[in-house]
Amino acid sequence: MDINGKLYKTFLDRKQQYELQHGEIAEKKQHSKGKLTARERIELLFDPDTFEEIDAYSITSKTGSEFGKVVDAFGDGVIIGHGKISGRLAFTYSQDFTVMGGSLGSVHAKKISKIQDMALKMGAPMIGIIDSGGARIQEGVASLAGYAGIFHRNVKSSGVIPQLSVIMGPAAGGAVYSPSLTDFVFMTNKTSYMFVTGPNVVKEVLNEDVTSEDLGGAQVHMKKSGIAQFVYEDEENTFFGVKKLLSYIPSNNLENPPIVDCCDKNDKEEPKLRDIVPDDANKPYDVKEVINLIVDKGTFFEIAENFAQNIVVGFARLRGKTLGIIANQPKVLAGCLDIDSSVKGARFIRFCDSFNIPLLTLEDVPGFLPGMDQEHNGIIRHGAKLLYAYSDATVPKITVILRKSYGGAYCVMNSKNLGGDFNFAWPTAEIAVMGPEGAVSILYKNELANSKDPDKLKKELAVKYREEIANPYVADEKGYIDEVIDPAITRKKLIIAFEALENKHLNVPSRKHGNIPL
Ligand code: HXC
Repeated sequence: MDINGKLYKTFLDRKQQYELQHGEIAEKKQHSKGKLTARERIELLFDPDTFEEIDAYSITSKTGSEFGKVVDAFGDGVIIGHGKISGRLAFTYSQDFTVMGGSLGSVHAKKISKIQDMALKMGAPMIGIIDSGGARIQEGVASLAGYAGIFHRNVKSSGVIPQLSVIMGPAAGGAVYSPSLTDFVFMTNKTSYMFVTGPNVVKEVLNEDVTSEDLGGAQVHMKKSGIAQFVYEDEENTFFGVKKLLSYIPSNNLENPPIVDCCDKNDKEEPKLRDIVPDDANKPYDVKEVINLIVDKGTFFEIAENFAQNIVVGFARLRGKTLGIIANQPKVLAGCLDIDSSVKGARFIRFCDSFNIPLLTLEDVPGFLPGMDQEHNGIIRHGAKLLYAYSDATVPKITVILRKSYGGAYCVMNSKNLGGDFNFAWPTAEIAVMGPEGAVSILYKNELANSKDPDKLKKELAVKYREEIANPYVADEKGYIDEVIDPAITRKKLIIAFEALENKHLNVPSRKHGNIPL
């Protein structure tokens, strides 16, 4: 080709225009709002010089309608492509708010769908970076159809490749549903928000004044709705979070999670574990201390740490291998299971099972949270999700009962008969249909009613109940747990047990899919 010729000049002109659009122009608009540009975000996400853009010069569809005035810009408001993250292949789309508010028109949608198809075909994570006003109003039904195509692909990819959504500006209208179909949602504090209908619509329909932040800011979705599992103070740290998460998980459902070489070789006794559970059964303690003393040092990475804090979930490594951890938190609501914690636990288990991540359950749960609110809002249905998720999971599953394991909660938390592969208990375990006080009130109703000192009698009976029934030895003798272990050797026991389960294989009956209680 003649580098002085017309064709080459067109090539260079386009390149120059592209550079200006994504450089100076975009930077001016985005930086003034405290946000990075679509391209800067990609640079933060991928290893240097590994990103390859696709369809950089695509052009917005013209609608021909009076309302159809669209901006002339390359890329139609989204950058798509692939690159390496810590040396591993990943795909992305990054919406450009500076082009019609990152709104989704037909070309924009086709580009996202194209990269979703590629990620699925290549078996690599798909990371969506969202900064969008939703369906592009000018393009009408073509925008809606575009969203539907993206959602369809999200669902087809679910459980095959990890899908992550990173919200870095508005995610309004249709822009919210793709993230909610993906595995993990990240948000940045103060600059991101998600809502199906924005403050203007709320005002029109309900005559209520609300800010974007109060309606769907990062804090709301982290603490109240539970939609965002991770919130960081700025965009740079958000991408650190994304990369950290990816380091624990495989690229697709046919691979195992990456094994980290440099790990904690210590599998000796950890005497501190003997003292964490207080003698008084009603006293709380922090289950995260237990987790950190069992797994490789510094590897516990908590998920959704500010939502449903009565259950703790997250990834960690044991001898360099990824585990999914589910632990009741006695510090919050005494570790009771309620609607939010059941759903949080269930969704995490489903993710781990899809991506070959073994599950470790640390149990200390007095039961399901009682009350009108829970019953009327469907604790039966939502609690069943946790049961279903544990039961359905075929990855290696180990439970350690630290203290309370009462009633339905015993069954739910990966009990032996739910498919637990190894079920251990500490000597402090209390396993029974219900707690001592409740049990003796029912069994000795008449005796307590006729007693001169019912409180004293109740206490005596409770002590007896604990000695004879609510301890780990009854379950041990009947094989409902495999072994009562010294807490100090928990790490060693788990290393051996998970190693024994490495080639676990289950034949499950053929079916289209089960019917999880949604
Ligand atoms: C076309 C849009 C747009 C949209 C924003 N813009 N949203 N263009 N379609 N959906 C354009 C604006 O016209 C403006 O263009 C530019 O983007 C920046 O927008 P601003 O409003 O100036 O920015 P800001 O003040 O930061 O507010 C951002 C915003 C607001 C909160 C996102 O623009 C907004 O409320 N947009 C509409 C959000 C919404 O209701 N979406 C739902 C669509 S319905 P100029 O030319 O001035 O720069 C939907 C249904 C799909 O998505 C359902 C599927 C399940």
